[in-house]
Amino acid sequence: MTSNDDTHPDALKAAGNGKVILFGEHAVVYGSHAIAAPIPLAVEARVITGGTGVRLAVPRWEFECDVAAERDQRSAFERPAARILELLDLLRTPMRIEVIPNLPRAMGLGGSAAAAVAIVRALDRRLGLNLSNQQVNELAFEAEREAHGNPSGIDNSVATFGDMVLFRRGDPPLMRALKSGNPLRFVIGVTGVESLTARMVGGVRRRWERSRRLYNRLFDQIDQVTVRAIDAIRASRLETLGEMMNQCQDLLSELQVSSPEIDELVKVARDKGALGAKLTGAGGGGSVIALCPDNAETVAQAFRDAGFEAMEIAVK
Ligand code: PMV
Repeated sequence: MTSNDDTHPDALKAAGNGKVILFGEHAVVYGSHAIAAPIPLAVEARVITGGTGVRLAVPRWEFECDVAAERDQRSAFERPAARILELLDLLRTPMRIEVIPNLPRAMGLGGSAAAAVAIVRALDRRLGLNLSNQQVNELAFEAEREAHGNPSGIDNSVATFGDMVLFRRGDPPLMRALKSGNPLRFVIGVTGVESLTARMVGGVRRRWERSRRLYNRLFDQIDQVTVRAIDAIRASRLETLGEMMNQCQDLLSELQVSSPEIDELVKVARDKGALGAKLTGAGGGGSVIALCPDNAETVAQAFRDAGFEAMEIAVK
C-alpha cells in the first residue's frame, strides 16, 4: 500500500487509547490523586479526502452525518469532531472521516477521548499537518470540553500518550508517567448499563454538600490508598495492589456509586481468584476492572458466563 492509497481498507488509519481508572475516581474531582492506565487502540479513524462537504461516519453504529459548519446546528455526536475541524480550520475541506470504535459505548472506558485523538491523528496523517503529541492532546482536550463540559484532562492525556499516569487536578495539573515493574494483567468486565458521568458526579456532590465531613473523610481515604498504590505498582507487589483495589471498591460503595451489576462482577472476579476488583470510572454501571496475573482467561470466561462482555489488557 502506498501512503496515499485511499482505497485500501487500512488507508492511513490512526488510533487513540481508551483508559481505565485504577484508583481515585470521584475523589479526584475534590483534589485527590488518581491513577489511570491506557486501553490500546480503543478507537481508530481514517480520513478520505474529496467528495462534497465534511462527512462523519461510524459504520459500526450505522451513524453518518454531514458536519454542520454552524455550531448551533450540530448534534451532540458531531460537536467534538466539528470542534477539532474548526480549530484546524478544516471545516470547509471536503472529506469523509470514518471512526472505528473497538470499545463499547458509555462504559466508562474513555471512548470519546480515544475517538478525538484518533480523528486528530487521522487528519494529521492524511493532510500532513505535522502535529506534535502535545498539540494532539490539546485538540483532544478541546473536543472533550465539547463532549463533557468540564473534563479533568486525564482521559485525553492517556488517549494521546498511552502511558499509565498519576494525576492530580490543578493549574497546571500533576501528570506523571508511572511504570510497573512487570506488566499488570487486568480483565475488564462490562456491565452493559450506561454510566452517566455527569449524573454520578452530581449525585456525589449533592451528598457531599449534605455530609461534608463524612465525604471529605472518604475522599481522604481514597487518596491515601491511591498514593500507597504508587509503590505497589512500581514494585509489582500484586497482592498488596489487589487488596488496595478491594479497599477502594469498599470506599466507592460508601460513596454510593456502585450498582448491583458492578457488585455482581466484583464478586464473580474475586470468587474466580482475582487479586482485587473494583468499578472503574464514574460507576452506577459502566465497567469493572479485576487484577488477574495468572487467571485472566478464567475470570474473563466467568464474566461472559454471567452474561457480561469481557476484555483483557496488560499495562506496563
Ligand atoms: O466515567 P468516566 O470514565 O468518565 O470517569 C469519570 C471519573 C470521575 O472521577 C468520576 C469524574 C472525573 O471527572 O474525574
